Amino acid sequence: MSGSRLSKDEPSRDGRPSYRVGLIPGDGIGPEVIAEAVKVVAATGIKLDTVSYDLGAGRYLRTGDVLPSSVLDELRQLEAILLGAVGPPVDSTEVPAGLLERGLLLKLRFELDLYINLRPFSPVPGSIADGADLVVVRENTEGSYAGEGGVLRKGTKQEVATQGSVNTRFGVERCVRFAFDLARSRQRKSLTLVHKANVLTFAGDLWRRVFDDLGEGYPDVSRSYDHVDASCIYLVESPLRYDVIVTDNLFGDIITDLAGAVSGGIGLAASANLNPARTGPSLFEPVHGAAWDIAGSNSANPLAAIRSAAMMLDHLGEHDAAARVTRAVVEYAAASSSSHEGRSSASTAEIGDAVAGKV
Ligand code: IPM
Ligand code: MN
Repeated sequence: MSGSRLSKDEPSRDGRPSYRVGLIPGDGIGPEVIAEAVKVVAATGIKLDTVSYDLGAGRYLRTGDVLPSSVLDELRQLEAILLGAVGPPVDSTEVPAGLLERGLLLKLRFELDLYINLRPFSPVPGSIADGADLVVVRENTEGSYAGEGGVLRKGTKQEVATQGSVNTRFGVERCVRFAFDLARSRQRKSLTLVHKANVLTFAGDLWRRVFDDLGEGYPDVSRSYDHVDASCIYLVESPLRYDVIVTDNLFGDIITDLAGAVSGGIGLAASANLNPARTGPSLFEPVHGAAWDIAGSNSANPLAAIRSAAMMLDHLGEHDAAARVTRAVVEYAAASSSSHEGRSSASTAEIGDAVAGKV
């Protein structure tokens, strides 16, 4: 099924270019938070030529489609993709476990070669990580997510299940190089590799050697190494030690939930799934899920989706608009955390309006 095109003036009437952006609002609170993200982008004056794609649990339950190849082909032609959330209600038994994750979200990450999952954290005042400013660079196409493994004698007492972690020198190198470049561009110029090299001696050793080898070319970037379990303590007890963290897919998944929690909540955590080689579109999404329990109540926090849209603007080269949106989100979050002790009473649309008013 093809997307519905809302407008396609390029360049737009006032002469500015418009960007061809695919929207995948998805399930649960996804459509509500994406509407606010689009509203805030419009307030910057940047024109988007949006195409909406109906994908997620809703589409699957109606039609049995997860990601038809014709849709994937259309998505490849876009300049960026903004995704809300995909996933069935927690108690749903109609969508097999992992079907949407593997068949839609991970498939997009792999097929579009979105090999960096970039997750910045700007802790709000009063949060555990208050004062920190850290970014996690998560490898996004390999590791335990690659799908290696299988099951034998399923359902018997002799059942065997394996799930390996795929780490290629090519994949590790391009991720670590991205992280060094990012660290070099920041004020502190500090990069920490997070792994479990004391136990995962094959994969960990590859990561450490690549980290040290590439590090030679970045004498201006200070580098350190933390085991992933210890990094969970540090994120809570001394988060200021971190500037840029680089890590594998699964460790990155886990520590970014923790980093979100200590920074003021997952409602603020944004992410960019990047194809830095720009052989296709990159995809931007809040870290949170579909939150079906509050869907439709106009109470979801859209800040993570709005900040993800800011990361999209940055990737599209609209650095000034991106910075204005990010600043507005961080300011709004800071103000509401100090006035409501972390719980905002504003509705989804009110938060979107307030942020739009600040850009
Ligand atoms: C995330 C999510 C996904 C992941 C799931 C939904 C497949 O938790 O983006 O962090 O594990 O990467
Ligand atoms: Mn996750």
